[in-house]
Amino acid sequence: MTYENLLEMLQNRRSIRYFQDKPIDKEVLEKILASAVLAPSVANTQPWHFHVLDNAELKAKMMECSCYGNFVTGAATFVVVTCDKAAKAATQSTIWNPREMEYSCAIAIHCMMLAATALDIGSCWVSLHHGPSHNLLKLPDHHVVIGGLMLGYLKEAEKMPSGEHERKPLTESVTYYA
Ligand SMILES: Cc1cc2nc3c(=O)[nH]c(=O)nc-3n(C[C@H](O)[C@H](O)[C@H](O)COP(=O)(O)O)c2cc1C
Repeated sequence: MTYENLLEMLQNRRSIRYFQDKPIDKEVLEKILASAVLAPSVANTQPWHFHVLDNAELKAKMMECSCYGNFVTGAATFVVVTCDKAAKAATQSTIWNPREMEYSCAIAIHCMMLAATALDIGSCWVSLHHGPSHNLLKLPDHHVVIGGLMLGYLKEAEKMPSGEHERKPLTESVTYYA
């Protein structure tokens, strides 16, 4: 892997909200999920759980729980990621910011997005209202909903890498301390 390969993948990834009407092959989905668990996590707690929604009715109900996602039913698969706040670290003596378990789950979502890009699958993170999505999946209290990820095969028109990303100039986002 070279930096150029990585840069190309990062540039090719963009949020895709409309997909082909075609289910994702099981092996492809498993590759995406296997990539998620390679994410780093605080004290290697691996606090993530992936709820894979293929069922149209359940996807429609989950769409009702989205903050801005009235296109969720168009995803072949919608993966809701939750954080198990009761996940245990190998070393109990470690003290860390409890939010870091949630950050770890966010990294896992990013790993899925990158794997999807490499596999020519479009993806888009969709924010979910915590209470309704938690209730819909009948989650235990120690699970926190992190977000949902739409996945689906790219439409022909989306296959061209856009290369364009609306980003602030780096100078606005970075401060160097001498
Ligand atoms: C934490 C997070 C929440 C997001 N929530 C939504 C959402 O609810 N609906 C949506 O359409 N896009 C959502 N997005 C996608 C962003 O709008 C998108 O990443 C951003 O506009 C930059 O575009 P790009 O992903 O194509 O580079 C979310 C992204 C992140 C990281």
